[in-house]
Amino acid sequence: MELRVSLRLFFLSCFVWHVLGTCYYFQGPYNTFLQFNTDTILFSHRSYFQLSFKTQNDSGLLYYTESKFESGETTLDYEGIYIYEGKLHYFIFNPQKYGTGSSRGAHVITDFDVNDGVWHKLEFFRNKEAEVPAGFSGDGYKKVNQTGLTVDGKSYVNDGTLNEMDVTKQSLFIGGHPKLSKRIDQSGKLGAFDGYIKDIEDLLTGKELFPEQPGELRESEFCGEP
Ligand SMILES: *[C@@H]1O[C@H](CO)[C@@H](O)[C@H](O)[C@H]1NC(C)=O
Ligand SMILES: *[C@@H]1O[C@H](CO)[C@@H](O)[C@H](O)[C@H]1NC(C)=O
Repeated sequence: MELRVSLRLFFLSCFVWHVLGTCYYFQGPYNTFLQFNTDTILFSHRSYFQLSFKTQNDSGLLYYTESKFESGETTLDYEGIYIYEGKLHYFIFNPQKYGTGSSRGAHVITDFDVNDGVWHKLEFFRNKEAEVPAGFSGDGYKKVNQTGLTVDGKSYVNDGTLNEMDVTKQSLFIGGHPKLSKRIDQSGKLGAFDGYIKDIEDLLTGKELFPEQPGELRESEFCGEP
C-alpha cells in the first residue's frame, strides 16, 4: 500500500517536472533574445509551436525566422510574431522563388490586448491540418491547412496552403534578433520583447526547444518563478 502511494507520487512528480518547461526573462531595452538552431526543427512545409508569455509592454518581437539573408536579394522569406499597440500579430512573407513576382503570405491579429501582465498561452502554426465543416460543398467535414494563432484558446486563422518557407539550416529567434533595429524594426516602433517567456515547444514533435548556445542565454535570466 505504502509503496503504491509513493510510486504514484513519484510518477506524479515526474509528470509535473516534465510539463513545467524552462522560463526565461527578457529585458527589452537590452535586446535580449534566444537563438535556436533549426537543423533539427522541421518547419519549412508546416509548423506548430507553443509558448507562454507575460508582459506589460505594448510592443515587442516574440518570434522571428527568415531564409538566408542576402543584402539586395528580394526573395527573402520571413515570418514573425510581435506585439504592436498591445495586439498580437503573426506576419508571414513568402514570395515565390521563380515566380511572376506574386507573393504569398498571411497576417493575423488578435482583437484584444495581450500586454496585461498575466500569462498567455500561445500556439502558432503554418499549414496545420484541420477539419472544418464542408458547408455547401457537402456533408460533414473537409481537411484544410490553417495558418495563424491560438491565444488562450481563441483562434485567429486563415484557411489555405502557404508556400514552403526556405528556413531549414537557419536560426529561429525568440524575444529579439541580433540585428533587430537594422533589419526588422527599421521604423523603431517595435523593439525587443520585454517580459517572461516559458514552455517553448515544437508541438509537431512534442519536444521542448532549447537555445543553441549557452552564450545566448548570457543576457537572459531564468524566471524567479515557475
Ligand atoms: C517597452 O520596450 C521598449 C523596447 O524594449 C522599451 O524601450 C520601453 O521602455 C518599454 N516600455 C515600457 C512601458 O516598459
Ligand atoms: C497541406 O499542405 C501540405 C504541404 O505542407 C500539402 O501537401 C497538403 O496537400 C495540404 N493539405 C490540404 C488539405 O490542402
